[in-house]
Amino acid sequence: MELGINIDHVATLRQVRGTDYPDPTTAVKIVEKAGADLITLHLREDRRHISDRDVEIIRAMVSTRMNLEMAATDEMTQIACAIKPHDVCIVPERREELTTEGGLDVCGKLDLLRSMVDELRNAGIRVSMFIDPDASQIEASKSCGAEAIEIHTGTYADSTDDQCRELEFSRIVDAACFAHDLGLKVNAGHGLNYENVSRVANISKISELNIGHSIIAEAVFVGLYEAVSRMKQVIVDAVSE
Ligand code: PXP
Repeated sequence: MELGINIDHVATLRQVRGTDYPDPTTAVKIVEKAGADLITLHLREDRRHISDRDVEIIRAMVSTRMNLEMAATDEMTQIACAIKPHDVCIVPERREELTTEGGLDVCGKLDLLRSMVDELRNAGIRVSMFIDPDASQIEASKSCGAEAIEIHTGTYADSTDDQCRELEFSRIVDAACFAHDLGLKVNAGHGLNYENVSRVANISKISELNIGHSIIAEAVFVGLYEAVSRMKQVIVDAVSE
């Protein structure tokens, strides 16, 4: 199981005061030392946290892998093709949202996504679709040429009702098996924290988790290195259960 650390919220802290600190590039060095397998960052259309400059600098310095999350737009495709991250994860994006809400509707954007995936793959980038655990979205992702999916775990993570959480968890398990059988790499993320991550990490068909907010929040108290190491350990324990 690989752990991707989403460093957006280091940049959020910088942007709220318009300072030049904390620097997300410093975060990259620390999280890689602490055991991160990849660096995930979202260049939003409104540039509310990660900047174009961050993306350029991090691409040049990353010693693991860079996973660039981006909206399905021409502007982002051009940036990705120029920067050439190892992976791109296409996500839905709305200006007024606090964070990504739900998965991308791949079924409703097949033609657009097919040509975008073509362009990205021709640039040597592996493409993933951030989708809800839904068979039709998985099939559509495969038919667009994506090599991976990232299952949106936000509904499972945010659920306050036991029955809803269990239902959502079984949807995630079924989706992971279905996508894996179609030959897709299966990733998962959103809303995962030190309490709810173990069950997801224990799903054998999932090979990568992307986690941001809970780790950066924990880092306020224990430091970034320790926050990443602890998450890594929780995941290692869950996988070996
Ligand atoms: N994966 C995707 C595709 C995301 O958009 C995000 C949030 O930017 C994450 C994972 C990480 O979510 P969280 O910050 O809730 O851990």
